[in-house]
Formats: sequence, structure tokens, C-alpha cells
Amino acid sequence: MNKKGFIFDLDGVIVDTAKYHYLAWKKLANELGFEFTEEQNEMFKGVSRKRCLEILLDLGGINATQEQFDTWMVEKNVDYLQYIEKMDESEILPKVKKVLKYLKKKDQPIALGSASKNAKPILKKVGLLSYFESIVDGNSVTKAKPDPEVFLIAASDLKMKPEDCIVFEDAVAGIQAANIANMISIGIGDDKILNEADYNFKDFTNMDKKFLKRLINN
Ligand code: BG6
Ligand code: MG
Repeated sequence: MNKKGFIFDLDGVIVDTAKYHYLAWKKLANELGFEFTEEQNEMFKGVSRKRCLEILLDLGGINATQEQFDTWMVEKNVDYLQYIEKMDESEILPKVKKVLKYLKKKDQPIALGSASKNAKPILKKVGLLSYFESIVDGNSVTKAKPDPEVFLIAASDLKMKPEDCIVFEDAVAGIQAANIANMISIGIGDDKILNEADYNFKDFTNMDKKFLKRLINN
């Protein structure tokens, strides 16, 4: 039986938390006196919390002291956690569970590769923690996507060679990280934005067993 390492990003791939990140950043921007649009939020996908705040402050033309910076980092996360608190399995994106179940049935190793420091509690909330043999998140990496570190650690945890791994990602930086790691990259979302991916899907609803079988066996 062939085995591949299947590595999933979290935000925007398994759950639609990108909207909660956006709302929390928007609130902070508004408090600081400027607007933050959904379009600008695209830049934040796959990007660490610290880097997001740096970009946000640049957008608002704000020079922060270290103390302010630290305060705003905490404030954003506290707001974000209020949304997470209310999450349950209804917030798993369509057909994600079906794909995870199929891969489990086929005995394929599965890992999470996310920039989020909130990954584990979110997976627990939506009841998907048990699907993952390894969870590599914002607490375990030193270098952010597009650096391939997060996916290389996941591959090593799964005892799979990078070229035998498949990454599901909704962020440009994530697709780039997978490509640099020499893994198969699958873009979930807008194929115009994720045009560097090996394969593109709008979401998991069009990903059939035939395609997954091909990934396992090729
Ligand atoms: C990524 C999101 O998964 O995690 C980013 O796409 C987010 O938008 C990053 O900034 C860090 O998340 P957290 O939960 O540690 O603030
Ligand atoms: Mg993502």
C-alpha cells in the first residue's frame, strides 16, 4: 500500500477562521483610527501574528513603541479568541472531514502545518484533533512561511520524504513554502491568487476520491 504525507494548513483550509482574524485586525485598526479592508487582509494569510501587526501598523502609518506593540499583539489575540470560543464542528469547511476520513481509511499519515499559535485549541473545538499524527504550528517554528520549515518538520514527524508529501494551502506564502520544500502543493481558494500551486481547487467539494487515489499512488 502506497503512503504519502498529507499536510493541511488550518486557517482557511480546514476552518474559515480567516474571517475572525480579519475582524480582530479590523477592530484594532479602527481603534487606531484607520480602515483595514478585506483585500488588505489577503496579505495576512499564512503570516505570523507579529508580522501581521507590523504590516498593519505600516498600513496605518503608525510608529509604535515596543510596549504598544506588545499590548496590541495581546489585544488582537484576545479579540480573536472570543470568536474561537464559540466555534464548533459546524465551522469545519465543506467536505474537509470527508477527505480526512478517506485518507485515514487509506492509512495515510496526516499532519497539520500552520502558522497559528491557536491551532490545537481550534482543532479540539471543532473535534478534528484525533485525525492528526503531528501538529506543527506557530509554537513549533522559528521561520515563517514561505520558509518551508513548518512543512519539513511535519514531513519528518510523519517519517515521509518531502517529495512524498502533499500540502493543502489557501495562502500564497504557504504554496511557496510547499514548492520550496519540494512537495506537491494544492491551492484551496482563488486559482488566480494561488497560481503557483501544482493543483487548484476552489474548496474540497470538488475533490473526488479518484484525485485523492492518484495522489496516494503517484
Ligand atoms: C495563519 C493565518 O494560519 O496563522 C494568519 O493565516 C495568522 O492570518 C497566523 O496571522 C497566526 O495565527 P495566530 O492564531 O497565532 O494569531
Ligand atoms: Mg491558511
